[in-house]
Amino acid sequence: MTPYAPGAPDTPAPAAAPPAWWREAVVYQVYPRSFADGNGDGMGDLPGVRGRLPYLKELGVDALWLNPFYASPQADAGYDVADHRAVEPVLGTLADAEGLIRDAHALGLRVIVDLVPNHSSERHEWFRRAVEEGPGSPYRDRYHFRPGKGEEGELPPNDWTSVFAGPAWTRTRNPDGTPGDWYLHLFAPEQPDFDWDHPAVREDFHAILRFWLDRGVDGFRVDVAQGLVKAEGLPDIGRTDQRRMLGTEATPYWDQDGVHEIYRSWRRILDAYPGERMAVAEAWVPTPERTALYVRPDELHQAFDFDLMGVSWDAGEIRRVVDTSLETGRTVGSSATWVLSNHDTCRHATRFAGPQTGGEPPRAGDRALGLRRARAATLLMLALPGSAYLYQGEELGLPEVTDLPDEVRQDPSFVRSGKTDGFRDGCRVPMPWTVAGPSYGFGTGGSWLPQPEDWGQLSVEAQTGDPDSTLELYRAALALRRRHPGLGAGDTVAWDDAPDGALVLRRPGFVCTANTADRALTILVPGRPLLASSPVETAEGAPGTEFSLPPHTTVWWTTT
Ligand code: NOJ
Repeated sequence: MTPYAPGAPDTPAPAAAPPAWWREAVVYQVYPRSFADGNGDGMGDLPGVRGRLPYLKELGVDALWLNPFYASPQADAGYDVADHRAVEPVLGTLADAEGLIRDAHALGLRVIVDLVPNHSSERHEWFRRAVEEGPGSPYRDRYHFRPGKGEEGELPPNDWTSVFAGPAWTRTRNPDGTPGDWYLHLFAPEQPDFDWDHPAVREDFHAILRFWLDRGVDGFRVDVAQGLVKAEGLPDIGRTDQRRMLGTEATPYWDQDGVHEIYRSWRRILDAYPGERMAVAEAWVPTPERTALYVRPDELHQAFDFDLMGVSWDAGEIRRVVDTSLETGRTVGSSATWVLSNHDTCRHATRFAGPQTGGEPPRAGDRALGLRRARAATLLMLALPGSAYLYQGEELGLPEVTDLPDEVRQDPSFVRSGKTDGFRDGCRVPMPWTVAGPSYGFGTGGSWLPQPEDWGQLSVEAQTGDPDSTLELYRAALALRRRHPGLGAGDTVAWDDAPDGALVLRRPGFVCTANTADRALTILVPGRPLLASSPVETAEGAPGTEFSLPPHTTVWWTTT
């Protein structure tokens, strides 16, 4: 037995007719506020991202998805858009966005931008005028304004609650200063919901799509895709635990059938452009069957599969999620869209570090264990058919920052929930690029959220060239995925028999074995090892001989 070094070369495969790029793409999510700060003001920006594109190219991803960089007062980190056609000055200029798209394309990277159609900022011109001009303003019907209940209209129009806690309604003042109508906001009060029955809303979003398609973007990530259409009459729900119903139960404000007509109109626009432009839905809906509706052939191309973000580190649970997702995709011919981490969720290196209790701040847990499992989970995800979205910093194995002081937190739901929820800042702490220096190479100044003291040891600089580092594991995995024909392709996996706690997943010319147990498990050597998430001893024996798969470890094998 010899120690096995990751990154062993694989045999290039003969090329088949290429499927649409997004079906197998590995997409890297860039959170612009926290990726790289080009002007030293402590806030990441588009010039910062632009300067780091070669890093993404070298990492080996196919595309990047940029969280919102549009003009915005930043009440919800840019998800409160005041103008979809302008760039937030703190993050750069329109010329910076255009330059970024150009440079990315020159490097062979595709660019997906965020689109926020459920709501605008309260500073959006339409909403400002709707409030300033008062009842009778033509801008009023582009949002949901309603008189309140009660003798003086002092009660909200219905019992809907905000995802960010508290009522989903805020009362306005009339131009003469008297209390006026209420408006609907399923998120923060600074994020009024559009009324998608109004033709101007529909037309404007068509124009926004074209605006960015004309600038060369390859796709859109559609925020709150399940929320645009509300049930006729805005009926009461009769429950106060509505936040728990997000993605699990039907409500009159999520997943109404009327949204699909909107996506069909968007698909026509996307298809009219050359170059396989696409859209990926963030759709929290109760069942896989409902998810499938968003990715029918004439609607959006992908919908994030968030179930991997919810699994425990358990072979049986993971297998069920994978099978369900692939089955769902097959019913409509879409490809799976895997995610382990994003900007709204506790990072998976911490999620797997020990039990997390819903509704409480994430706990640091056993960091070494969390990282070991996270590396294994990533290799497993990257061996599945379909596309995978990576969240910036996961390639460094960054943990969630669990000890941010209350006063630096900016997640609007943190304050609205009375500090019982809204811990999303912990996964948004700016990236460490260098071992030392101001903000660890994030920029020349500070960082809008404090970085932990050990951030430098996790930096790109610290990990580059270290064969045991998480960064080099990601680089090796992405290079293999690019070269190997069986990875990412198709829509099926075959599971071989495996001991309890293990998964043996077979793909054309390739096998992925994972052990989620806390003890080594014996499997049969399925081929020649390619890459392992933790150190293993290579099996010198022929395929079919016994192999001890270490705890919390994934190994990739070639069978060709
Ligand atoms: C989902 C986004 O991912 C999240 O960050 C945002 O707060 C809400 N949508 C509201 O736009």
